[in-house]
Amino acid sequence: MKTTHALRMTFLILLGLFGVKTWAQDPQRFFIQYQKSNAHLLKNISLPLSDNRLRLGAVIASPSQKDPDYFYHWTRDAGLTLLEIAQEYRETSSQPQKAKLETILKNWIQFEIHAQENALRASANLGEPKFTVQGDIYPYDWGRPQNDGPAIRALAMTHYAFSLLSEGQTDAVRTLYQAELPARTPIKRDLEFIAHHWNEKDFDLWEEVRGQHFFTRMAQRAALIQGSLLANKLNDPFAAQYYIQQSQLIEKVLNEHLDPEKLIVRPTLYPIGDTKNKTSHLDSAVILASLYFSQGDGIFDPSHPYIQRSAQKLEEAFNKLYSINWNSSTQGIAIGRYPEDIYDGVGFNGGNPWFLTTAAFAEYYCRLSLSDHGHRFLQRILLHTDQNGHLSEQINRTTGFEQGARDLTWSYVAYLRAIKACE
Ligand code: NOJ
Ligand code: NOJ
Repeated sequence: MKTTHALRMTFLILLGLFGVKTWAQDPQRFFIQYQKSNAHLLKNISLPLSDNRLRLGAVIASPSQKDPDYFYHWTRDAGLTLLEIAQEYRETSSQPQKAKLETILKNWIQFEIHAQENALRASANLGEPKFTVQGDIYPYDWGRPQNDGPAIRALAMTHYAFSLLSEGQTDAVRTLYQAELPARTPIKRDLEFIAHHWNEKDFDLWEEVRGQHFFTRMAQRAALIQGSLLANKLNDPFAAQYYIQQSQLIEKVLNEHLDPEKLIVRPTLYPIGDTKNKTSHLDSAVILASLYFSQGDGIFDPSHPYIQRSAQKLEEAFNKLYSINWNSSTQGIAIGRYPEDIYDGVGFNGGNPWFLTTAAFAEYYCRLSLSDHGHRFLQRILLHTDQNGHLSEQINRTTGFEQGARDLTWSYVAYLRAIKACE
């Protein structure tokens, strides 16, 4: 073991010094990893039902059931995944592929309806963050509520609903959104919840700090804007108006996150309790929020100067922090969640770079039309993955080994998104 470890370290250091093949030298490698990521992702979202612990449509965060146990359905991870699936559904022209994606979307929706009904009776309401693969609420202590969940879920379902409408499948859409109160359809339920509760404090996407979060507010705003468009199409004009009004109120609150001294966007304001020593106020969550939820109307788009400055500052901070970054040549900086992070994927022995945040930086720079810089982050990912293209949650900050939950669904989603932005 020891020698393999030493060999691998030497190998990584040499690779680090001389760099791996770049995008320009061998673009094909990055597309092969795309295919592999896609295949691994599908395994996590269409689980074999021979296992009777499973409810159809569950999206596991990872197949890892121990150290750590990520064999659960998180509303956030699932929503981001199905947002990507809904996007593929929209883009594909192949009928068999469309049918396959449609099944995945429909199963997930059935799972979420079940989860919503359980959550409506629970303490965190629709902000319940985590479910068993059977669709039951995670029964132990957890950072709850997490109100980005219902927003991301609504956004993914709305995206799919628009595709259905353009195909003339109006009846199918009416099972997702009905103009009635109390709401009994999944999109309407989430939108009502968001519109009435967005101003409440909750736990952040990293499930650690209670407060007012930029990421959560951006998700809620996006869901209300898209939801309002859908409500208009489905003869619910007063709801449409109400959702838009609430989204405008959220915009005011989003502006509070501008830090006029550091010229960055602050991830969290007014925290209560443990703040995890986050003194730098730098967090990749801000970049993720812009990528996932900006609406192309100039409000915290990727090109927003404070978002750009946040990205720069994050790169500087992670460059200093993680030794795998120190002899980088062709590959970009491996990016973590936030500099003060100590979660190592199982325990708390020090934070690491994550695949999903590193892939997000690739997507970020490619969307800014700085593709050469974007590609460097993809080169970083390929440096740390194995031959089979498995992507875990984290990359060890000193050895470069994969670490934490294996085959993290969200890592694959982030890689797919990055390739689409970069190709
Ligand atoms: C698991 C996670 O959700 C992670 O974000 C967090 O850092 C640890 N638990 C510790 O709360
Ligand atoms: C921990 C992450 O911090 C959180 O964002 C994620 O939802 C869970 N793990 C599950 O992947």
